[in-house]
Amino acid sequence: MTIRTATLNHVLTIEIARPEKKNALTQAMYTAMAEALIAANADNSVRAVLITGQPGIFTSGNDIEDFMQRPPGGAGAGDQPPVARFMGALLDCEKPVIAAVTGAAIGIGTTMLLHCDLVYVSDEARLAMPFVSLGLVPEYASSLLLPALMGHVKAAEKLMLGEPFSGSDAVDCGIANAVLPANEVVNHARRMAERFNALPPSAVRETKRLMRAPNQSRIREVMAAEGALFATRLRSPEAMEAFQAFFQKRQPDFSQF
Ligand code: COA
Repeated sequence: MTIRTATLNHVLTIEIARPEKKNALTQAMYTAMAEALIAANADNSVRAVLITGQPGIFTSGNDIEDFMQRPPGGAGAGDQPPVARFMGALLDCEKPVIAAVTGAAIGIGTTMLLHCDLVYVSDEARLAMPFVSLGLVPEYASSLLLPALMGHVKAAEKLMLGEPFSGSDAVDCGIANAVLPANEVVNHARRMAERFNALPPSAVRETKRLMRAPNQSRIREVMAAEGALFATRLRSPEAMEAFQAFFQKRQPDFSQF
């Protein structure tokens, strides 16, 4: 089991649980998370959703083997790829979504935080969006949302250089609410999620909708533009070199491009 879900005290927890691969997300895991979010949205007894990982690792992002063997999108692609279903389900979730970032959050591990409502980060966590290092481009509207949150130059460090950053940097940049000791982050995030149990659910839902509405169509436009480029780049020689280098545990060599 790589995604565990459980509802306790009106909070649905989605736990990423594939520690042997640093919680890398496969297509099946995206599908499981999308289905859990869609079910939570429809279930009146669920007041909030908590997304969490394992001690020391939130997620290392998309499974790189899946990127190589089953790249999403591309010409003639039929059904919506699982990653797109997950992204859409999180964007469409009307309930508050709280993230407990238990450790490293790479790629979509960081970009999904831009679509959560409350984000709590372990003091041991490192965040990074190494899309360029993998021969790719940003996704999940991060190319729009990060410069808007922190300005172009700070966003460029993170998106163009792929510079990792700490939980306190994430708080300073407006990506996260607070940094907590590693052994407290999940309980703190759960307590915050449970606070919605005492609040009127329709007022919470409408407030989230109002806060998100002004950017919704722009976010979807940017996601479509990023997604088309991302799908092309997944098949590029630069990306192939980066993926092979990862599995061969060596530095990639981009000197021939
Ligand atoms: N996809 C597929 N497998 C992954 C993975 C990923 N995103 N991240 C880690 N793994 C696998 C490794 O291949 C390794 O497998 P093995 O034991 O069969 O060799 C195992 O998980 C442990 O990873 P390892 O790199 O040895 O752990 P680490 O503690 O040294 O480093 C990370 C942890 C997260 C920093 C590092 O694994 C990493 O950088 N992963 C890739 C992140 C990435 O680029 N994601 C894509 C973003 S778009």
